[in-house]
Amino acid sequence: MTYQQVNISSEDDIYVALSAVRHFMKRLPFSESDQQKVFVSVSELTRNVLDHACSKGIFYCELIDKGIRFMVIDHGPGIRNVDEALSGKKTSSSRGLGLGLSGAKRLMDEFQIETSTRGTKIVAIKWAGK
Ligand SMILES: Nc1ncnc2c1ncn2[C@@H]1O[C@H](COP(=O)(O)OP(=O)(O)O)[C@@H](O)[C@H]1O
Ligand SMILES: [Mg+2]
Repeated sequence: MTYQQVNISSEDDIYVALSAVRHFMKRLPFSESDQQKVFVSVSELTRNVLDHACSKGIFYCELIDKGIRFMVIDHGPGIRNVDEALSGKKTSSSRGLGLGLSGAKRLMDEFQIETSTRGTKIVAIKWAGK
């Protein structure tokens, strides 16, 4: 199997998502630091589902040719101001340091956000052996 889907509704699900990612990353020549970068991104984005999207979302990850792609999808209220959220500034809705989203973007090689009042979908890729 080269993909796995995890429903995100509690803190434990974050760890299930992380172990899925670790399992897949072992199969490609990812450096230790690249693996850590993906772990941090996955924990921040899945935690955002718990903090900002009514604790209901789906994490999906798969091995693609020479990389790992993951998706975090929720049907929460959406990211009100994406530019501000990506700037890494702490806002009134911040539950943490406000660096989760901007950090995740910086740590991954490809990063796309689609967000509306009906929810948020983030797709990110890390290439192996770069
Ligand atoms: N999945 C999401 N749904 C709705 N809003 C979100 C989501 N993820 C992030 N946000 C918004 O973007 C802001 C920045 O997110 P982040 O950088 O992770 O900081 P923090 O979680 O510490 O507030 C959050 O404060 C929140 O307003
Ligand atoms: Mg966060």
